[in-house]
Amino acid sequence: MEPPSGPASRRHVPWSRLLLAVSLLTFWTPPTTAQLTVEAVPPLAAEGSDVFLVAHNVTKIPLGYGWYRGERGDNTQLIASYRVDNDATVYGPVYSGREALYPNGTLLIQNVTQKDTGSYTLLVTKKDLQTEIQTGHLHVYPVLPTPVITSNNSNPREHEDTVVLTCGSETQNTSYMWWINSQSLPKSTRLELSEDKRTLTVVTVTRNDPGPYVCEARNPVSVSRSDPFTLDVLWQENSRALGVGAITGIVIGLLLVLTPLALLGYFIFLHRQMEEPSGDRFTLEAGLQAPLVLQ
Ligand SMILES: *[C@@H]1O[C@H](CO)[C@@H](O)[C@H](O)[C@H]1NC(C)=O
Ligand SMILES: *[C@@H]1O[C@H](CO)[C@@H](O)[C@H](O)[C@H]1NC(C)=O
Ligand SMILES: *[C@@H]1O[C@H](CO)[C@@H](O)[C@H](O)[C@H]1NC(C)=O
Ligand SMILES: *[C@@H]1O[C@H](CO)[C@@H](O)[C@H](O)[C@H]1NC(C)=O
Ligand SMILES: *[C@@H]1O[C@H](CO)[C@@H](O)[C@H](O)[C@H]1NC(C)=O
Repeated sequence: MEPPSGPASRRHVPWSRLLLAVSLLTFWTPPTTAQLTVEAVPPLAAEGSDVFLVAHNVTKIPLGYGWYRGERGDNTQLIASYRVDNDATVYGPVYSGREALYPNGTLLIQNVTQKDTGSYTLLVTKKDLQTEIQTGHLHVYPVLPTPVITSNNSNPREHEDTVVLTCGSETQNTSYMWWINSQSLPKSTRLELSEDKRTLTVVTVTRNDPGPYVCEARNPVSVSRSDPFTLDVLWQENSRALGVGAITGIVIGLLLVLTPLALLGYFIFLHRQMEEPSGDRFTLEAGLQAPLVLQ
């Protein structure tokens, strides 16, 4: 080894040697360090689907291997173990009947449920009786049902009531989106989303708020959209009631005005008949017209 003679070469020489050493190390990495890994396929599983826990880099021709629930090779948590020489599978205490072992070390779990979420450990016994251990993780998500929008007030009154709309039942790891009239939510101080966006608050509803509202629930394995939901804000019924009232009022008013007029006309008619016994057809007809107006 040549000792560095100055600052310049101290920088230069060791650097090139370091690069050489690194490149040699890269080429000389012995294949025996191949790391056993466990991969869930698919990594995010939908409830009811089948999942492989694929074992990669399993040592060539192992004596056997075992799959365990949890993060250790704990025999009380054994799912199943496999012996290569006689091709024999032994089932353990946590075997559910849905698991299958493959000779290459891979575990298949069929029809997974959310209870299958968790860690799984593979213990490989090599020919020299040494063991390799690796843990993989499985996450099973529910397939979300169609969400239903519910309101905490089915007959809100305009300018008075604040309405809370809720999208479906509460599920973890679910994100929500809302649309009004098929448009994304407009910027409005009267529209408030909860932190998880599952509830939409419409502050002091107006007649322009009936919607329809649509919400969407989404998790890593499914997307589901609600049917449109319409709010029946009470101004409509109020104004219809007022309308009927107003018409009734007008009719009563007309009757109140017309009835005395008709009576007056009738009395004038009678009076004239008494004054002029010969009669007056014109007056008679005018008197009869009042009841016709009332219709
Ligand atoms: C197998 O091991 C090698 C060396 O550790 C590594 O580079 C490779 O990514 C591993 N393969 C898998 C599928 O994990
Ligand atoms: C092991 O076998 C199973 C079933 O044939 C297969 O799906 C899986 O990909 C295999 N694993 C590896 C690492 O090749
Ligand atoms: C999957 O499991 C559920 C219960 O978790 C069961 O009702 C269903 O019948 C199973 N499906 C199959 C195809 O085994
Ligand atoms: C609905 O929720 C809002 C906000 O919490 C509240 O102000 C309102 O009184 C509730 N309406 C009913 C009918 O409970
Ligand atoms: C929700 O996600 C977190 C983080 O990924 C996870 O720890 C938790 O178990 C998940 N919950 C459910 C019910 O899947």
